[in-house]
Amino acid sequence: MANEHEKENAALAAMEYVEDGMTIGLGTGSTAKYFVEMLADEVADGLLVKCIETSEQTRALASSLGVPLIPFEQVERIHLTVDGADEVDAQGNMIKGGGAALLREKIIANASDHMVVIADPSKQVERLGAFPLPVEVTPFGYTITAKKVFDVLCAAGVNRPRVELRKKPGSMDMLVTDGGNHILDCHCGRIPDAEALAARLSNVPGVVEHGLFIGIARTVIIGNENGATVFE
Ligand code: 5RP
Repeated sequence: MANEHEKENAALAAMEYVEDGMTIGLGTGSTAKYFVEMLADEVADGLLVKCIETSEQTRALASSLGVPLIPFEQVERIHLTVDGADEVDAQGNMIKGGGAALLREKIIANASDHMVVIADPSKQVERLGAFPLPVEVTPFGYTITAKKVFDVLCAAGVNRPRVELRKKPGSMDMLVTDGGNHILDCHCGRIPDAEALAARLSNVPGVVEHGLFIGIARTVIIGNENGATVFE
């Protein structure tokens, strides 16, 4: 179980990148939550920023804390996005989507001048794939899409993959994302070539987005008990 202090220290280190006047993408999850809370404290002290949330969950948190949010349509530029990860490798490539927010997270991270990942040490991996890879799919035809995704995983060299439809926590109902889609959790064990798999998955009709974030993060911050290590 991750130490909350490690997550908190990663978020604190990310605050160093915040400047007055920025438009900031707010990530989703328990690590990103610390960043939103710290940002809220600075806003209360006079920091002038505009923010864009990556999920309804983060929207609720940010607005309850008085962090100013603007609709995506009004965003001209996103200077900085700070978000968590389910796995991150030494190149800063990630698996994201454990919180089912991967679509908005990727749109916002990809549109940002600078994406900073904040995580505790349990998220660092040599090779991506132990965490089940989330793939967001349209409700229409999702059973066929799941078969195609399975084929793509096999073709990309994943050994005996398992594709599982994500359920709502504590329920037998299918999870529905903020975008109205479903999530396939792809148990890979080990992904031989994440970049190649990412390209293959993007080509499957019915796949809205996948949780492989390749070449998007510029800074990775790993929190520890006493502070954080920053990888640029
Ligand atoms: C949500 C995400 C989160 O960033 C990821 O799941 C990490 O969450 P946490 O900080 O709670 O471990 O991708 O879709």
